[in-house]
Amino acid sequence: MIAIDGPAASGKSTVARKLAKRLGFSYVNSGALYRGIAWLAGEHHIGPNDASAVCGQMRKSVFKFDLQSKELVFSIDGINPEAHLRNEQVNQTVSSISAIAEVREFLVAHLRTFLSWDDLVMEGRDIGSIVFPDTLYKFYIDASLEVRAQRRAFQGQRDDLFYRDRADSSRRSSPLTIAEDAHVIDSSSLTIDGVVGEIVGRLKMKGLLTALRLD
Ligand code: DC
Repeated sequence: MIAIDGPAASGKSTVARKLAKRLGFSYVNSGALYRGIAWLAGEHHIGPNDASAVCGQMRKSVFKFDLQSKELVFSIDGINPEAHLRNEQVNQTVSSISAIAEVREFLVAHLRTFLSWDDLVMEGRDIGSIVFPDTLYKFYIDASLEVRAQRRAFQGQRDDLFYRDRADSSRRSSPLTIAEDAHVIDSSSLTIDGVVGEIVGRLKMKGLLTALRLD
């Protein structure tokens, strides 16, 4: 289990997916699940600050999780929301939704069960600190706000990173923090391959690649 945490637009999704491919692990983007609940609330016209209505709907809905081609796919009430997970409604509400403690408990419990499927590279905000605190392999990918904003603009997305950073770091329930034993990588001036290379180097040092016979 390899945990990759970091703020929005730090490049962690691209890095985590590439790393998983290289190691033959499955890739789980935990942020997609928080976005899924934000989407669900929007579909039911529930405001992101109405925690009891968000949780009521979440408990009523049917979630299905699966691995396809070594990536997590999921549906909510029979719909795969993937195409909607990065729209403006979701970008604007997901930080409030993910600050709801019951939403976090619900998703953390599911995220932990995925480990029975396969070896995983999982990315998010609290994977090394809360979801899998016992894993030996924890990385925290950072980048300056300026570089992250440029990356989002390049992706053609409107996303208030400053607001999300503040909300994700200051919420009461498992805020974005750097796990004590995480290896921190500043990706501001690194390429994706550079970051993946640094992680692989670290995993080699820790003996994981030898154990996987990838050395
Ligand atoms: O990684 P992302 O930007 O797609 O995540 C969307 C939001 O979900 C983010 O603003 C905070 C929340 N999130 C979280 O609270 N915990 C996680 N493990 C992953 C994401």
